[in-house]
Amino acid sequence: MNISKDSSKAITKESVIERYLPATVVPVVDSIDTVFAPSNIALCKYWGKRDAELNLPINSSLSISLAHLGSKTRISVSDTDQVWLNGNLVAADDKFSRKVINFIELFRRGAAHSVKVETENNIPTAAGLASSASGFAALMLAVNTFYGLDLEPQVLSAFARMGSGSASRSLYEGFVEWQMGVREDGMDSFALPLTTRWSDLRVGLVKVSTGEKAVDSRSGMNRTVDTAHLYQSWPLQAAADLERLHRAIADQNFTLLGETAEQNALSMHATMIASWPPLLYWQPDSVAAMQSIWQARAEGVELYFTMDAGPNIKLLFTADAEAEVKLRFPGLEVVAPFG
Ligand code: PMV
Repeated sequence: MNISKDSSKAITKESVIERYLPATVVPVVDSIDTVFAPSNIALCKYWGKRDAELNLPINSSLSISLAHLGSKTRISVSDTDQVWLNGNLVAADDKFSRKVINFIELFRRGAAHSVKVETENNIPTAAGLASSASGFAALMLAVNTFYGLDLEPQVLSAFARMGSGSASRSLYEGFVEWQMGVREDGMDSFALPLTTRWSDLRVGLVKVSTGEKAVDSRSGMNRTVDTAHLYQSWPLQAAADLERLHRAIADQNFTLLGETAEQNALSMHATMIASWPPLLYWQPDSVAAMQSIWQARAEGVELYFTMDAGPNIKLLFTADAEAEVKLRFPGLEVVAPFG
């Protein structure tokens, strides 16, 4: 498939964003109050871009936000551009700093002021959860307040998407659907929250590895789209799974939710494994965890999993199984997405 490779494309992030900005963008306050955005886990994954510049997806996706786990961000006027992460100043040439300042620059557009951006992630690094989704969502909310942009939620979501695709979904709590959209400028590709709550749903974070992965999700996606024939089946799988998840959520049918999320994650990983060079994020402990989950199911415990582009496993279960799941996964960090 050759979807993400049109380098002649004229639509840039800058050209889309500037349509929503006043002629000059200046801070309206010296410093904003800290804003928060939750991390999220996709039950139907975003995998593959139809436009790499704007992070436009090939399929719609659906996630669940992780309540209090996420990123807190504050922006203030400063003498020099500075990025702080978890209380430490990050070197200006560090990849993280550059990503943050480049994102600010999409709005600041060379205006004569510098900023200090302070971010704190309370996502346990030990859980190996991506922080880019909550990080870019919180940064977008902070930019909106700092520059007094007053952007609509759907625009905020579309702009957060340009930082990191999954950030489009981190603007909201609970179940969130990111609609792929069809427009070339991507302004119909934003996330919306579902109204349904599911109070006894639980997510468990199983740590396999916390090391930085060798292939990030952007490169992994591109490699899969470009080299795996198996990828052609992915949009069909994702569309069917999305439909099943809507049904599962509407009926509060946990078996359908768990089966769909697990099959969706494994289908995504199958397309990665079928890429060239092959892409296998799993480690022996990931496989061991999967086997424990399947064993638990064989013994009657309703336990399922999902995983992103990394070796860590996220368990899905309901409150009544929590004690049993904790026995099988000692030290498990459990999140109640609906409080
Ligand atoms: O938002 P990105 O570029 O980090 O990509 C996220 C990709 C997955 O985590 C594998 C799937 C998803 O929908 O979150």
